[in-house]
Amino acid sequence: MLEHSEVLTWAQPTSGSLRPRAYDADTSSRRRPPPPPAATLLVVSPLSRRRFLGATLAAAGAVAVSSVAGCANGNPGVRPSSAAPRPLAIPPLAPSTRDAAGRRVVELVAAPGTSSFLPGVATPTWGYGGLPFGGPTVRVARGDDVVLRVTNRLPETTTTHWHGASVPARADGGPHQPIAPGATWEASWRVDQPAATLWYHPHPHGQTERHVLRGLFGLFVIDDEVPAALPSTYGVDDVPLVLTDRSFAPDGSFDEQHRNSVGLLGDTVLVNGTVAPYLDVTTTRVRLRVLNASSARSYRVAFEDEAPLTLVGTDGGLLPAPRTVTGVVLTPGERAEVVVDVTPGRRRVLRSLSHDLGAVNGVTRAAGADDSFDLLELRPADRLTASPPVPARLSRETPLAEGGRTRRFVLSNNRINGRAMDMSRIDEVVPASATEVWEFTNRHTLPHNMHVHDARMQVLDPDVPAGERAWKDTVAVPPSTTVRALVRVGPHTDPEVPYMLHCHLLRHEDDGMMLQFLVVGAGQRAATTIAGHDHG
Ligand code: C2O
Ligand code: CU
Repeated sequence: MLEHSEVLTWAQPTSGSLRPRAYDADTSSRRRPPPPPAATLLVVSPLSRRRFLGATLAAAGAVAVSSVAGCANGNPGVRPSSAAPRPLAIPPLAPSTRDAAGRRVVELVAAPGTSSFLPGVATPTWGYGGLPFGGPTVRVARGDDVVLRVTNRLPETTTTHWHGASVPARADGGPHQPIAPGATWEASWRVDQPAATLWYHPHPHGQTERHVLRGLFGLFVIDDEVPAALPSTYGVDDVPLVLTDRSFAPDGSFDEQHRNSVGLLGDTVLVNGTVAPYLDVTTTRVRLRVLNASSARSYRVAFEDEAPLTLVGTDGGLLPAPRTVTGVVLTPGERAEVVVDVTPGRRRVLRSLSHDLGAVNGVTRAAGADDSFDLLELRPADRLTASPPVPARLSRETPLAEGGRTRRFVLSNNRINGRAMDMSRIDEVVPASATEVWEFTNRHTLPHNMHVHDARMQVLDPDVPAGERAWKDTVAVPPSTTVRALVRVGPHTDPEVPYMLHCHLLRHEDDGMMLQFLVVGAGQRAATTIAGHDHG
């Protein structure tokens, strides 16, 4: 088992070992300013801890301080919750049936509802599967033929995208598969990818942030013949943690207006929709499947004392071997699976700690990365069931090997290669099942990340041997850096319907920081434009 005691942050670790190679001397030689002085951190972090809650004065003080610190950059700061801790909500598993052809059928209805996140406050929200906010966890197995049937009972057109899934382009649920109000859309494919924690969410052109913000997101878990020794009892020792942040308008609705250049940050963190959650733990080890479903905020998930966590999986599946880390940074759209050890009767708090996004101070603050706050209190029982040790080997998948061509993507002011999203334009044509190198260079002062639909990716880093690379579909690309990733798409091909490549900061995506690519097989002629869409 490899010991990495540094914070693991895919593209931009705080230690030098995983730092992406510089692409352009011009931008990479720019020195990063030193981290903010301790005093700045002291203002925000200790006061935002829930243990100060009892003291009304301290809580009031924290709010005032955070908002002063936040004004200049549009980050409201995370306020300590005044609500009593609540049990963590566990999204139910989506029910499924078998059709005559033996396919596993899952029905999801997207509809409006009303939620109560804060005591006595009713918030209009949207959800899937009868939940007022969020969606049930879809759980399928490798080899299943699945049918996902989505009915739209919302007052406007939406789409449902299976983020991280290897799917035919017509089943992808991107902007080209709209579901009109009242309509039902069906996606079907054979699941053929390793065990992973994926998710689903809307992807309507220019409207994704608002739809996700209102509550349309859920986990999509794929099972495989993974080592049985990883905790896997859903909701007991295999627990989803979907991280989102929201601010509330005086009438109780979500604030959808006050965003900065990074996006919309909330002052209240919801874990599976629960404010100030705790989890009763009954086993000595718990596997947490953490998804950052926020539109702009990044998190560094860690214990309050930075005690070690065992990282076992990332976006695209399990690691070859577990890694000991002191925290995991997740930018919007990214996932991590961690196993935490607990001691009978000893409560521990999982927090998000301030972290370095590789940006100048003001921008780091605007991305919420300066904030530290509680995520979840683990409350182990006095007697715990012993969990087996984490296996030394996890994924046995062969790492990707370089071979195909290199494509370069330069990220600037919410544009990719100078282009804004055009629904009718094909930006790239990629051969199915080729492994290519995609280079993402951020020439902007803002942090961005890059998500590639249908792809399984491995970030190339000279310090990480090929056999230890993590599986990704969304990678952070800090300012003034280049991230090089091996990218494999396919095996599904379609010469007419594109997949998306975009920044997963949802406002940037909506602003047009997105390109389209086709995946074609040998001898297939790619369309030159997408029918039914005018330019512009
Ligand atoms: Cu999670 Cu194109 O999206
Ligand atoms: Cu971006």
